[in-house]
Amino acid sequence: MLKFTVSSVPLLKQNTEGYVFFLEEDFKFDAVLKDASSRFFPHLQNYFKDQKFTGKKGQTLAVHGFDDKNIKHLLFIGLGKKDKVYSLEQYRKSVALAYRLAEKEKISTYALTIPAKSQFGWNPEYLAQKTSCISLLAAYHFDDYLSEDAKVFKPTEMVMIAAEKDHKDIKEGIKIGTIIATATNRSRHWVDLPANELTPPYLAKRAVELGKKHGLEVTVFDEKKIEKLGMGGLKAVGMGSQHDSHLVIMQYKTKKKNAPTIALVGKGITFDSGGYNLKPTGYMETMKEDMTGAAGVINAIVALSELKPDVNVVALAPLAENMVSGNANHPGDIIRFYNGKTAMVGNTDAEGRLVLADALAYASKNFNPIAMIDIATLTGAASHAVGPFFSCVLTQNDSLATKVYEAGVTSGDATWRLPFIDEYKVMVKSDVADLCNNGKTKYYAGPTNGACFLSNFVGETPWVHLDIAPAAFDVPDTPYYRSGATGAGTRILIDFVMQWK
Ligand code: BES
Ligand code: MG
Ligand code: ZN
Repeated sequence: MLKFTVSSVPLLKQNTEGYVFFLEEDFKFDAVLKDASSRFFPHLQNYFKDQKFTGKKGQTLAVHGFDDKNIKHLLFIGLGKKDKVYSLEQYRKSVALAYRLAEKEKISTYALTIPAKSQFGWNPEYLAQKTSCISLLAAYHFDDYLSEDAKVFKPTEMVMIAAEKDHKDIKEGIKIGTIIATATNRSRHWVDLPANELTPPYLAKRAVELGKKHGLEVTVFDEKKIEKLGMGGLKAVGMGSQHDSHLVIMQYKTKKKNAPTIALVGKGITFDSGGYNLKPTGYMETMKEDMTGAAGVINAIVALSELKPDVNVVALAPLAENMVSGNANHPGDIIRFYNGKTAMVGNTDAEGRLVLADALAYASKNFNPIAMIDIATLTGAASHAVGPFFSCVLTQNDSLATKVYEAGVTSGDATWRLPFIDEYKVMVKSDVADLCNNGKTKYYAGPTNGACFLSNFVGETPWVHLDIAPAAFDVPDTPYYRSGATGAGTRILIDFVMQWK
């Protein structure tokens, strides 16, 4: 894993193979650049011109210079035009681009200077947190099944340069950033593991192991218990699978007295074939991603056990595999949930809301949470609405919407709010049961449809539904993801809880 060290030695005196320069658009050829040029690469200024490197947003240039003994790699990253300060996301992207440039140039060790507060508006500790976290996300590569020569090169060390007085803070920032990245990359790894390996029992076992290691209380309900508790949604969805369904419940308890509880609920379908409403070719291949929500809540609470917020947290992950077989549920089946409500299964491919319904009802009844968030790869329609860079927020609680939005900005797990008012709720009504799981298509609004269904299972609990289907898998053109899983939801949940007031 990439190692971080802290140093006050100036950039060009560092012992590393690579030096990173973040340059604003139309930057001046200043003293540091002149120094770099005279030491390692005499015609740097002309070379910038030749390569048309002007510091445009996202522009990169690697220059191989020499001193007496060594090759020195100068890694230039364009920051673009500054609007008072650069955004946090612009900083994350720039740091990730530096990592990817080091990776591409096969540079093992590189150094960068933590920017001044005037440039990004944040203190050194916070920037160190973002620097370590995003570099580790940029490093992640799902290579378990690749032969050695197909694996990407991995830089081993990054030096963060800052004034001596900030070193303690920076080390603390690195610690936090590493905790968050480790959780997010573990989510990505679980999502990337194929469905023949990562099954509901496998994931339940991993949750138990991690919970034990981190001092969390973990309870796992098996199929018998699920049936006994009347969780007809979770039971129905897993019936077609040879693997048993589970409900994983993990609890973090703060030392602070009389603290409220926040509930996190994550959809855990380890493979979504669609069931008898089978997905066609082109839509099924990535459906190992359908447990991204469960990975998010489990790994978020593991990270929180180390970050130790002043609130209690409970994470619930209903785990099942949605398959076809003689035991699978049929379109038209009627099921009864934990809270006594009934639903007709209008479409076996709208299975996420069925497993979430039981978990949400269980959480609101048994933990009395002050706030509840569920995250789920719930609808393809969410992607049609917002494209790949955002998750959709659905809630009728404006104050929670603001908190989630802010956690999206700080964490980098960006969100966008979609409409959700009472008038939509009739669309999930049924003539033969309380509800129908797909509902009236005339209303379109697929993500809102999902939220309407789920709203029947939260009681009076303040609640937000996050549809992470757009951002969970195969997101293009970002310097800190690759093809495959993004771990969407993990980072935002951690920030949401840590920033709770
Ligand atoms: N897992 C899918 C949603 C999905 C689609 C996630 C694409 C990620 C990428 C979900 O279970 C599903 O199939 N939803 C249906 C709902 C419909 C039948 C009401 C959908 O989106 O078509
Ligand atoms: Mg079964
Ligand atoms: Zn489905």
